[in-house]
Amino acid sequence: MRNFLIAGNWKMNAGPSEAREIASNLVDALNNGSFSAEALICPPAISIQTVSEIFADSPFKVGAQNVHTEDNGAFTGEISTSMVKDLDVTHVIVGHSERREYFHETDKLVAKKTKKIIDDGLTAIVCVGEKLDKRKSGDHEKVVLNQLDHALNAITRDNAANLVVAYEPVWAIGTGETATPEQAQEMHRFIRFQISERWGKDRAEEVKILYGGSMKPKNAEELLSQPDVDGGLIGGASLKADSFSEIISIAEKISK
Ligand code: PGA
Repeated sequence: MRNFLIAGNWKMNAGPSEAREIASNLVDALNNGSFSAEALICPPAISIQTVSEIFADSPFKVGAQNVHTEDNGAFTGEISTSMVKDLDVTHVIVGHSERREYFHETDKLVAKKTKKIIDDGLTAIVCVGEKLDKRKSGDHEKVVLNQLDHALNAITRDNAANLVVAYEPVWAIGTGETATPEQAQEMHRFIRFQISERWGKDRAEEVKILYGGSMKPKNAEELLSQPDVDGGLIGGASLKADSFSEIISIAEKISK
């Protein structure tokens, strides 16, 4: 029996009214509530409360897309782990390629945030992934290893269960282009191997490794069928209740 995590990243989409609609549709779409996969939605910060209230009596969890490294203070525009915990958030995405690219988040900052998130009792979804030129030059594993090393250096093996790694090849995000199941499996196995070299095999098994980059109902089955793909981090297809719930149902079917 496999235990998948199907996570939606809404990015800067769905303010409170739209969030209310999508979240309610999701609860309705899976209203028998009998799925065993972990299902999570990360709305924009302003919609977390709305989604959290709608999911309160459902199996869905709520995540945040970003937090600061401090609890509070003069950091205009930021939010903290204690604030999102107040809204029953369980997971926080960190190091997404869009934050690395557009908000200049460095490996060092990603590592600091990862530690903060985990120290405060939340699960960190640490995103790693190479750009197209690095895939073409054959340096994709080197890039991912460097990103992974920074995050792992900031935490310990006892944190394994609160760490999720999302492999998101940048060239596959929002492009409609997906890594092949073989490319995904190869990188996921590499990531698992690197974690097991540091923390041992058992701890490496506790870390969920998600694939992200144009995952949709159409390609979810072959991606999730790979032995080291423990779920998905889904952007575009998580904004529609029917496609996101279909991916959850696919995970459910494979997990049996
Ligand atoms: P996508 O986004 O599914 O729209 O490619 C994935 C992500 O960026 O997390």
